[in-house]
Amino acid sequence: MTYFTGKVAVVTGAGSGIGRALAAELAVRGTRVAISDVDAEGLAATERLLVDRGARPHAALLDVSERPRVVEYAREVIDHFGVVHQIYNNAGIAFTGDIEAMDVTHLERVMDVDYWGVVHGTQVFLPHLIASGDGHVVNVSSVFGIIAVPSQGAYNAAKFAVRGFTEALRMEMQARGRPVKVTCVHPGGIRTNVARNARQVEGLDHDALVSSFDRVARTSPERAADVILAGVAKNRARVLIGADARAIDLLARVTGPHYQRIVARLAGRSGL
Ligand SMILES: NC(=O)c1ccc[n+]([C@@H]2O[C@H](COP(=O)([O-])OP(=O)(O)OC[C@H]3O[C@@H](n4cnc5c(N)ncnc54)[C@H](O)[C@@H]3O)[C@@H](O)[C@H]2O)c1
Repeated sequence: MTYFTGKVAVVTGAGSGIGRALAAELAVRGTRVAISDVDAEGLAATERLLVDRGARPHAALLDVSERPRVVEYAREVIDHFGVVHQIYNNAGIAFTGDIEAMDVTHLERVMDVDYWGVVHGTQVFLPHLIASGDGHVVNVSSVFGIIAVPSQGAYNAAKFAVRGFTEALRMEMQARGRPVKVTCVHPGGIRTNVARNARQVEGLDHDALVSSFDRVARTSPERAADVILAGVAKNRARVLIGADARAIDLLARVTGPHYQRIVARLAGRSGL
């Protein structure tokens, strides 16, 4: 018996990367999983993977930025399993470009998916997590929710917002005596499709951005899922994934706001 045995978990953005690995690792630990994504093909591939491993997932198309659909989806999952203990608000998109070159619609889309998607998943499922008597909210921020960097303004804003929202929720659950634990996840570079699926402002070269991401993303999605679940089982407030994430967290703590001078200088030199 582990923290995950016999529980029901909802994983958003399960059609690729960290979400797929999380769903697979949860299934291995004896959790019944509800998987969802906007990408039908990726979702079907994850479903096959889980079924091949003997699991019986509930799979549904879901855009986490659409609140009414999230409400309907929660009803479907409750009808199917009768209970939900854990939600992994993992779905996310990236966008690269300087704020002065960005259209407001770019900022809005990143916020809609990366921030509001997390808010919808959390708020809509929270009554069910409380009713389970043993709930857990796991929200995926980023190392870019700890420090900001040039050309990631939209993503930084959304991931800092996820962190603030999640930390407030954790304290509320504790202070109000609710049976729900809350964990905020800050991955460093994980070898997923996040850069391939990302968009950028006009003039930036998509393939070059993907290549530079692939050079620095060192952790596998499977390892990321393993680290997340170890942190969840220990009820950690914050889970950092990878040596890069731990180094960045240290930089932020040691230098405070002065990290910005260091990062701006590095970015100026490397043309980032
Ligand atoms: N890979 C990294 O280096 C890294 C680092 C820090 C944080 N993260 C975060 O981890 C999470 C998972 O990303 P990943 O790296 O596995 O990327 P990924 O692109 O491989 O997977 C993300 C999944 O989310 C889905 N998705 C996108 N928009 C959606 C929407 N509106 N509704 C539902 N699903 C949607 C995509 O279709 C995809 O299947 C994201 O929140 C991302 O920001 C990733």
